[in-house]
Amino acid sequence: MTDTNLQILRSRLQQGQDLVVLTGAGISAESGVPTFRGQDGLWRHYRAMDLATPQAFGRDPRLVWEFYQWRRQLLAPLQPNPAHQALAALEARLPRFTLITQNIDGLHALAGSRRIIELHGNIWHLRCTGCGQVREDRRLDLPPLPTCQACGALLRPHVVWFGEMLDPAVLAAAYAAVETCDFMLIIGTSGLVQPAASLGRLAKQRGAFVAEINLEPTPQSDFYDLSLQGKAGDLVPQLLSASG
Ligand code: OAD
Repeated sequence: MTDTNLQILRSRLQQGQDLVVLTGAGISAESGVPTFRGQDGLWRHYRAMDLATPQAFGRDPRLVWEFYQWRRQLLAPLQPNPAHQALAALEARLPRFTLITQNIDGLHALAGSRRIIELHGNIWHLRCTGCGQVREDRRLDLPPLPTCQACGALLRPHVVWFGEMLDPAVLAAAYAAVETCDFMLIIGTSGLVQPAASLGRLAKQRGAFVAEINLEPTPQSDFYDLSLQGKAGDLVPQLLSASG
């Protein structure tokens, strides 16, 4: 069954369609990044959901920064896996390709992907709480309360926290890509967090062919044309191997 479905996806890619790929934490699992709902990741006795909020940062920015420094240290040695690499190769091969990710780990860029819409931000980017400037900063020895070079105000991780809105420009770019694509591939996301979870259905409503790759069925699977069960690191490179 998986083989037949892979054939269907390969032939879609060979047709040179306008492809949008949406990824979630599952694509980075084989690189060693914990997924959100797979395990209960605790830091000290805090849950991520209690620290990744604007309220926590307002109350105790030093504690929230300590948490993010810890996360950056965990992520720093991790490398893209064959699924990230296959998507970067696809981008180089297809004239119309957009990658939308919910991940903040930066592994798609490390694999060589270029046109990336990061819905939830990027942990390697810092944003000034004063002037709003965003800069890449991969240092692992940031001061406990890093400040902006331009205006001196406190910096924060450039990620979307629980209870925050997504950047409207970023979201608009994602919608624009989804509304015009004719093939959407959704990889390693539980389909539980909006607005990302509804992008596949939107593509489907607009007439696109929508397929999902995940270890297990998701609440969205029934709405899609195809649902492939397996590891992203196995399946995504197989799509590519016979598509070019
Ligand atoms: P989740 O942790 O909710 O879901 C990960 C999905 O990946 C699950 O459906 C797994 O079955 C699947 N999976 C795990 N390993 C896999 C593998 N090797 N190959 C294929 N699939 C695999 O992560 P997301 O859906 O990304 O938002 O979570 C969405 C958002 O929820 C996150 O971006 C985060 C969180 O709240 C923010 O932080 C704003």
